[in-house]
Formats: sequence, C-alpha cells, structure tokens
Amino acid sequence: YNKTKTFPKGFLWGGAVAANQLEGAYMEDGKKPSVADVMPNGVFGGPQYDAEYYPTHDGIDFYHRYKGDIQLFAEMGFKVFRTSIAWSRVFPTGEEDQPNEKALKYYDDMFRELRKANIEVMITISHYEMPLAGVEKYGGWDNRKWIELYLKFCEVIFKRYKGIVKYWLTFNEIGNNLNKPMQWVTAGIRTDLDHLEQRCFQGSHHQFVASALATKMLKEIDPDAKIGSVIEYKTIYPITCDPQDSLVVQRLKQLSFLFPDVQVRGEYPRFIWEYFAEKGITLEYEEEDFDILRKNTVDFLSFTYYRSRIASKDYIESVQKDTKGTDVERKDNKLFRGDKKILDLGKTNPYLEVTPSGWSIDPDGLYLALEDLYQRYNKPLFIVENGLGMVDQLVDGTVQDDYRIDYLAKHILAMKKAVCNGVELLGYTTWAPIDLISEGTGQVSKRYGFIYVDRNDIGEGTLERYKKKSFYWYKKVIASNGEDL
Ligand code: BG6
Repeated sequence: YNKTKTFPKGFLWGGAVAANQLEGAYMEDGKKPSVADVMPNGVFGGPQYDAEYYPTHDGIDFYHRYKGDIQLFAEMGFKVFRTSIAWSRVFPTGEEDQPNEKALKYYDDMFRELRKANIEVMITISHYEMPLAGVEKYGGWDNRKWIELYLKFCEVIFKRYKGIVKYWLTFNEIGNNLNKPMQWVTAGIRTDLDHLEQRCFQGSHHQFVASALATKMLKEIDPDAKIGSVIEYKTIYPITCDPQDSLVVQRLKQLSFLFPDVQVRGEYPRFIWEYFAEKGITLEYEEEDFDILRKNTVDFLSFTYYRSRIASKDYIESVQKDTKGTDVERKDNKLFRGDKKILDLGKTNPYLEVTPSGWSIDPDGLYLALEDLYQRYNKPLFIVENGLGMVDQLVDGTVQDDYRIDYLAKHILAMKKAVCNGVELLGYTTWAPIDLISEGTGQVSKRYGFIYVDRNDIGEGTLERYKKKSFYWYKKVIASNGEDL
C-alpha cells in the first residue's frame, strides 16, 4: 500500500451535528415532531408528552442563525460539514404524497451557504428524526412499511441535492438498535414492550434493506456521490486475561460487527443464525432481501468514536450498565456476587482517565478501531464523530478549553499513526463544532463545540456565539493538514 507520512492531500477536516440537536424551530414552516422531540431529558428520559421543557424544540436556533454559524466554520477552514435533513420537516408525518417545499427551501439555502464557502456537504438521512406521527401509526422500523416511507424521502432529497451533497450516510449509529434505551431514537422502537431483542433485529433487517435500496437509488440518480452508513464504535477490552472474559468480548464484538458485516460485505455473518436460534428470534424477510443486500454495499465505512469499554464474564460496561437477569448485584456503584465485590464501577478501566460524564479517554482505542476496521473490511474509513463533552466557563467572552484541545490532539495523533501505517482514512468530523443539545442527557451544558453558545439547560441565555481557544487551535490544525497540533 501507499505509505504516507502524514494525512493525504484533500483529507476532509470538519465538524458534525444533527438537525434535531441544533436547528430548533421544531414546528416551524410545516415541520411536525420527530421521535427526538418527545425526549425532555435526552434518551434516558424516554418518550414523554407532557414535560415542561424540551431542549430540542429551540436547539441553538441554527434554523435562523445558520449563515453566521457557517461563516465561523468557514473561518476555521472546514472542508466538510456533516448534518442531517430532518425527516419530519420534509415529510411531517412521513406519509404525505408531496414533500414540504418550505423545508426543502431551507436546506437549499443552507447548503448554498456551505458550497459558497467551499465546504462539502455530508448528510445523515436518518439521525433520530423519524416522523413521530408515522411511528404512532405504524410503530417503529420493525414494521416493514418504513422501507417505503424512507425510500420516498430518499428519492426527494437525492434528486434535489444531486451534485450538491457529495456524501450520504443512511443511518446514524445503526448498531445502537441493540443498545437499550437507544432503540426509540434510532428506530422508533418502544423499549417498554415485550420481545425487545426480536423487534430490534427485525427493525435492523428492515433498515439494512432500506439502506441497500437507497444505495442502489443514489447510484442511479447521482453516480458521482458516495454513500456510507454509520456505526458507533467502542473499542472493547477484557477486564482480565481469564479466557472466559475474552469469550464475552468476542461475542460482543461479533454482535457489533454484525452491522458493518451486512452493510460492507453484503451478507449476514453465519454466527447470527445460531444466535437467533439460541434466543428464539425469528426474522421475517422476503427472499429478494438477501440479493438486495449483496448487490448494494456501501462505498465507505464511517464510524463514531468517543471512548472504549471493558467487559468480563460478570460485567459489561455499556450505556445502561444493566445487570438485570444475572446473579450480579449493583450497590454503591460497585458490583457484587453474593458478598464478594467483583468490580468497582467508579473506576471502570483503571488505565484510563475519565471525563466528568464518566466516559473514558482512550486515543489508543481509536488507533485500534482504525486498524481493526480497516483490516476486517478493507474499505476507506471516515471518522464522523469524535469529541469531548464538558462544562465550559465563559470568561471575558471566551473559554480556555485546553482539555478539549488535549483530547482532540491525542485522537488526531492516533489517526495519524494509523494513516502512516496504511489505513485509508477519508476524513474526520468532530462532534460538534458548535455547542448543541446532548442527545444522551438533553443538556446544553455538556458542551462539545469550538464555538460557545450562550444558553443554559433550562433554556435561558442570549444564544450569542463566542469563539473558544479550541476554535483557533482547530483552524491551525486544518491549515497545517494535521501537522500543527
Ligand atoms: C453520538 C450521537 O452517539 O454521540 C450524537 O450520534 C450524540 O447524536 C453524540 O450527540 C454525543 O453524545 P451525547 O449524549 O453527549 O450528546
């Protein structure tokens, strides 16, 4: 392979966001609510219809302020900007015959601003934005009906943005369909009803078919555009060298690789049929589905990376830290089997620092992710999210966010190491270049941006934007193509 000593020319530096986390204007110009709009406190709050405050409803008002924000991205020298097209703006219930022209007009204008600044547009087609009315009527993606509704949406946006959007991503973090309570936002699947795992695999199957058919459609409409899908990746380590711990890690890896296996290689891995049989899961499908999957694989593999996790035969560090159904009990943030303490959750991986949100900081984990994914799939990779969410202090109109610079610099170095070792990496978009609503907690105060937004967790503030120290740092990183860290 072509060994480069640094990032290739044309490497795509930029930032990533999602419409529902920053646009606001949630009922403006004909938009109707999405699954994310009934989450008062992030995904951990669960769907609710009577909360007092829903942070996504105003977001950071990007819908009205995008021009100024794009100017700031341009000032940092962005080559690419990843956002999503809010599905329930374009098809408010998912079922209309005609798209909402006002919504398309907004995206026309926003994309024009980006292209004027020479910023490539990367679009996530579905980033937690299923039309709520459609979900109330049909349920989530476990209903095959969604393939038809999704493709109707794709056809409209592919035709409209032919030649304008160069990179498309079919589903955000599709593998999160298996992580409770994420299924509600990833696939409109209720987590409080029975047979959750069965419904999640069924929903994933329908998303796989929809993603493959969208890929086929894009190749017909705009053959120059590229399409990928997004997996969420956490490098995973066994807690000890007990082979039993590695067996658990192996199974978890197989399950998370299921998603890229289908989307990149075009077929279900063989182990999954055994797994389904073991769990009593039956998949409903149509014969042609497998042919569709085989013939329409993605052009590149994109993934999000924030942290690593650990697992053992007794414990799996995951979103919900769920120990239900095992003989392990959780007390005072420690896990016990009987009287024996088996793990202190406060410490998680003892070799790594953690952020105040409890997320490990592990740049080597990113290096391992890049190597593992590239070796397994031999496809170009794209890091579509990576960043540090922290409480920032605005002092004299700026934020001294050295901690963010340090986190990002270490991750960029890890990328560089992988690139120099032959990994084909197309680009890097940080989450998120501007403060926005956290998807996990619903807070603004879990800030990721290079740009500070004056807004607090109960919706107060002027919404004014301020450049943080990291703004000038990232500008320098881009200008030096990743050399000046
Ligand atoms: C990713 C999602 O999982 O993580 C984003 O794609 C999300 O939508 C990001 O915002 C960071 O997580 P959080 O919970 O801090 O917003």
